[in-house]
Amino acid sequence: MTVFDMDGPTALITGGSSGIGFAIATDLVKLNFNVILLARRKELLEKAKAELEGIAPSGKVGSSDQKIATVSADVSSVHSLKIAEENLRRSFDRIDLLVNCAGVVKPAKLDDLSDEEILNQIQINLLGMMLATRQFLKYIPENGSIVNFSSALGLFGLAGYTAYSASKFGVVGFSDALRRELLSKRISVHVVCPPDVDTPQFKKEHEDMPEWMRTKERPKALPASLVSRRVISGVKHGKFLILPDISTRFLDFMLRFFPRLSRWILDGMFPKP
Ligand SMILES: NC(=O)c1ccc[n+]([C@@H]2O[C@H](COP(=O)([O-])OP(=O)(O)OC[C@H]3O[C@@H](n4cnc5c(N)ncnc54)[C@H](OP(=O)(O)O)[C@@H]3O)[C@@H](O)[C@H]2O)c1
Repeated sequence: MTVFDMDGPTALITGGSSGIGFAIATDLVKLNFNVILLARRKELLEKAKAELEGIAPSGKVGSSDQKIATVSADVSSVHSLKIAEENLRRSFDRIDLLVNCAGVVKPAKLDDLSDEEILNQIQINLLGMMLATRQFLKYIPENGSIVNFSSALGLFGLAGYTAYSASKFGVVGFSDALRRELLSKRISVHVVCPPDVDTPQFKKEHEDMPEWMRTKERPKALPASLVSRRVISGVKHGKFLILPDISTRFLDFMLRFFPRLSRWILDGMFPKP
C-alpha cells in the first residue's frame, strides 16, 4: 500500500507555491489529495491556491471533501515552523505525504558569494529540509511518504555551485539515513535529483549567472510537469533515488561505475572560471 492507495490523503508541499512544488500540487489535487502549500510569500501562496481550486476535479474544494490550504512559513526558522504547525493542527490531523521542495540557488564562484548567499543556500536547502521534516514527522502515519528534493548537482559538483551542491549532496545523505530510520515505521523516503527544470528559479538562476558560466550551452530544461509525473511514479514504485530523465540516469550510472572517466568528461563539458 502506498500513499496513492489511501482514502482522501493529505500532502504538505514546502515550496508548493511555485515551479516544481506547484506542478506536484497540481497533480495531487487532480488525484483528490488535500493539499497544503507552505512557502514564505503570501501573495504567491494565494495565487497558487486560487489556481488549484480552479482545477479541482469535483469543484468540491473548501467543503469537507477536498481541502486546499496555505501556510506562510520559512523552513529555515524553527520558530516559523512551530507557528505553521500550530495553524495547520486546527484543520489537519495527519500528513500522508510530505514533499520537501523549498529551495534557493545562487550561481557564483565561492569567493564571489556573500556570507548571506552561502548561509541561505545551506540553511534553506539542507537545514530547512531537516527542520521541516522533524516538525511534521509526527503527523505522518504508517504507509506515508517523504519526498526530498536534491538535484543532479547532489550527484556531482559544478563550478559556480559550491554551496548549492554541498546542500544538495547533504540532502541525499540526510534522505538515505532517514529512510533507514523510518523503515520500522513503514514510512517511505525518496530523494529526487532533477537536471535543469523550467521554473521561476531556473530563470532567475540564468539571469544571475556570471559571464564565465554562460560560455557553454546547457541541455534544454525539463518541464516541471514531467518531473512531477516522475516523482509520483517513483513513489508508487518505491524508488529511493528518483532520477527524472534518461541523461541523469546515465550520469548516475557513469559516476558509480566509471568515476574517473566521468570526472574527466564533466571537466570538459561544463564552464570553468
Ligand atoms: N529548477 C531547477 O532547475 C532545479 C533543478 C534541480 C533541483 N531543483 C530543486 O527543486 C526545488 C524546487 O525548485 P524550483 O525550480 O521549482 O524553484 P522555485 O520555482 O523558485 O520555487 C521555490 C519554492 O520554494 C519556496 N521557498 C524558498 N525559500 C523558502 C523558505 N526559506 N521557506 C519556505 N519556502 C521557501 C518559494 O517560495 P517563497 O520564496 O515565497 O518562500 C517557492 O515556493 C528546489 O529545492 C530546487 O533546488 C530545481
